[in-house]
Amino acid sequence: MAQSTRIAVTPGDGIGPEVVAEAVRCLETLLAKHGLDLEWTRFPWPSHAWHEEHGESMPADALAQLQKYDAILLGALGDPGPMDDPDRYLLPDSISLAPLLDMRKGFDQWVCERPARLLPGARQYLADERAKDIDMLVIRENSEGEYVSQGGRLRKGTPDEVATQMEVFTRKATDRIIRYGFEQARNRAADRVKEGRTRTFRTLDGRTCESQVCLITKRNALRYWGDMYTEAFDEISKEYPDVATHHELVDAACMKFVQSPWAFDVVVASNLQGDILTDLAAVLSGGMGVAPSCNLNPTDPDMPSMFEPTHGSAPDIAGQGLADPTAMLFTAARMLEWLGRKDPAIAAAGKELFDAVAADLAENSGRRRGTREIGSAICERLSQ
Ligand code: IPM
Ligand code: MN
Repeated sequence: MAQSTRIAVTPGDGIGPEVVAEAVRCLETLLAKHGLDLEWTRFPWPSHAWHEEHGESMPADALAQLQKYDAILLGALGDPGPMDDPDRYLLPDSISLAPLLDMRKGFDQWVCERPARLLPGARQYLADERAKDIDMLVIRENSEGEYVSQGGRLRKGTPDEVATQMEVFTRKATDRIIRYGFEQARNRAADRVKEGRTRTFRTLDGRTCESQVCLITKRNALRYWGDMYTEAFDEISKEYPDVATHHELVDAACMKFVQSPWAFDVVVASNLQGDILTDLAAVLSGGMGVAPSCNLNPTDPDMPSMFEPTHGSAPDIAGQGLADPTAMLFTAARMLEWLGRKDPAIAAAGKELFDAVAADLAENSGRRRGTREIGSAICERLSQ
């Protein structure tokens, strides 16, 4: 018999454990209902608590341990809160967040997918009614770029100190992320056809397509990688004549995300620019409380992908049962869909979880509810 699908659950810091607890309750409910071939193990690391006890955020063999799993479900890392406790055990961001980057790098999770769709019931920050049509997928290059962590500090602590922070862009990683963007654009268009809704995008030569990829760079100033991305984009786009193409400079993209976000479909951006754009995209689609995220390795089946909401550890509300678990639950739904590539029953459970979370959001628009209350309402919906 094939081995069951295994998830490493890493709740992390701050509100992480609170929202992860709700995700686990939903998984338990789905397991009881469908008898899925799914199991999970909870890890107390990476976390501040582990660091306080062991002097490191996670054990030296952490990645080797996690690699045995099919996916990692991560809550949040960072300031554990509560913020009004000045004596709390606190680490510099560069230390507490390092495990996140280690996992992305160690498991070559080269895609970061962050959908931003304004679902019914989610908070609409933009006054324009067309905001209801916001439905984009931001794909962030997740393996290199501004995040390679190469550089150093020279003459540290002196007035002549120099800090260097290298950016590295390879053609291989550029090609794969752009191609992934085009594939997702096609998939999204096909899904829309199935759901009976189409979108149209104009190409520069006057044609209309049912999907679009917008490449974001800062090629007017950062010309070396900007030009390489542009050349790769132009070449790869020839393989996808059915997908409209578009380019924006990142500063203009920020403006257009606010001015007309409904005009975007798939967006491909570099690691740092994608990081910044996805906080903005999260707000456009209802805020951090509803924004899912995933770090994927689509090419190597031996490497686990990692699923974490876009939000952080929210130390201002940690420990109070106030955090909205919706983003975590959408993220868990995406995880099940991803794992479902090998097991259709798990994929169906992912769809069921997504639908339940979306229905809960639609019905309870704007109501103030605690973490557990939201989790319970969704579990109840799943048990019906
Ligand atoms: C994110 C976060 C991380 C990132 C931080 C915590 C290192 O902002 O996942 O978006 O920059 O990638
Ligand atoms: Mn971020």
